[in-house]
Amino acid sequence: MTTPSIDIDERLSHASTLSSAWYREPHLLQVEMKNVLARTWQLVGRVEQVAAPGQFFTTTIGHEPVLVVRGNDNKLRAMSNVCRHRAGPVATGTGHCGVFHCGYHGWSYAHNGRLIGTPEFDGVADFQKQDVCLPRFQVAQWAGLVFVNCDLTAPSLEDILEDIPDRVAKFDFGTMKLAARKDWEIDCNWKTYVDNYLEGYHIPTVHPSLNRELDYAHYRTETKRYYSIQHSPVKNPQRIRLNENDANNEALYFWVFPNLMLNVYPDNYSTNLIVPLGPERTLTIFEWYFHNPEASEVQEKVKQTIEFSDEVQIEDIAICEAVQRGLRSQTYQQGRFSVKRENGVHHFHRLLAEFLAS
Ligand code: FES
Ligand SMILES: [Fe+2]
Repeated sequence: MTTPSIDIDERLSHASTLSSAWYREPHLLQVEMKNVLARTWQLVGRVEQVAAPGQFFTTTIGHEPVLVVRGNDNKLRAMSNVCRHRAGPVATGTGHCGVFHCGYHGWSYAHNGRLIGTPEFDGVADFQKQDVCLPRFQVAQWAGLVFVNCDLTAPSLEDILEDIPDRVAKFDFGTMKLAARKDWEIDCNWKTYVDNYLEGYHIPTVHPSLNRELDYAHYRTETKRYYSIQHSPVKNPQRIRLNENDANNEALYFWVFPNLMLNVYPDNYSTNLIVPLGPERTLTIFEWYFHNPEASEVQEKVKQTIEFSDEVQIEDIAICEAVQRGLRSQTYQQGRFSVKRENGVHHFHRLLAEFLAS
């Protein structure tokens, strides 16, 4: 099996897009799981899910089963959710417990991952249970969100987010609460969806009603080391829920490499997590955060926000699925970037090339 070229010219005006094989070949998704998803910070949950000692949740990053738990020492830890005996699940779902019991043969593990119980396992040569521990992953939290990085040598979450926390400090994310969640499964490669998110070039064609709200002429994308931000001044603040009295009237669309989006408005923000399910199947998880989401007047705002998001998402799904069919064509290998409108996509492809090559 061949790995196609992943050279992306650093000059936007000279560069071509990532070749189409990367969007459809099953073995290339395996390369991405290992080189990209397992080496980057992944949003896995919320701090409130692991607020108390003993609280835990489980998840999967790429193929990696992950367990996140707050220990009795109040420390948050992330570790492999794969039992060292014969790879059973150390924990399942979410919950609260003093000790983890593997769901296969009942080995037990402490919150820090140490193996503490091995029923009916006497007489095994060269085996000391005190030497066994679940492999650790990096864990960090920001604005009430929990992130895990399976690569212990990766830069810290702080380094990756750079100045995002400062840029959004005025919105007071940390005190907002989860108001709604919506999952969508889409027939496209995960990068087809991310590419589409990273440019406003398609807005006039694909999103006519969104285009009426935005000041497309002034739409711009700024790229940083590991994230980019799309600034979108708006014409009609009511529909997009902006503050009419705010002189700096724009929506901020952050994207953090490789698969997380943060859409920031004055009274709410949402996360979009883009999860590859297969080479041509993707799950997008949308979660909305508001202040006091239980209040009935806030519920109404949540409803309006989701309705507008749905409208745009349905248009994006249709175009992403059509593009995916195009990417399967034997006649198409790769394209070029608009210098004015597609610097965000180029930035993404450069980062992919960097991670895939190393
Ligand atoms: S696989 Fe966990 S106890 Fe056997
Ligand atoms: Fe779109």
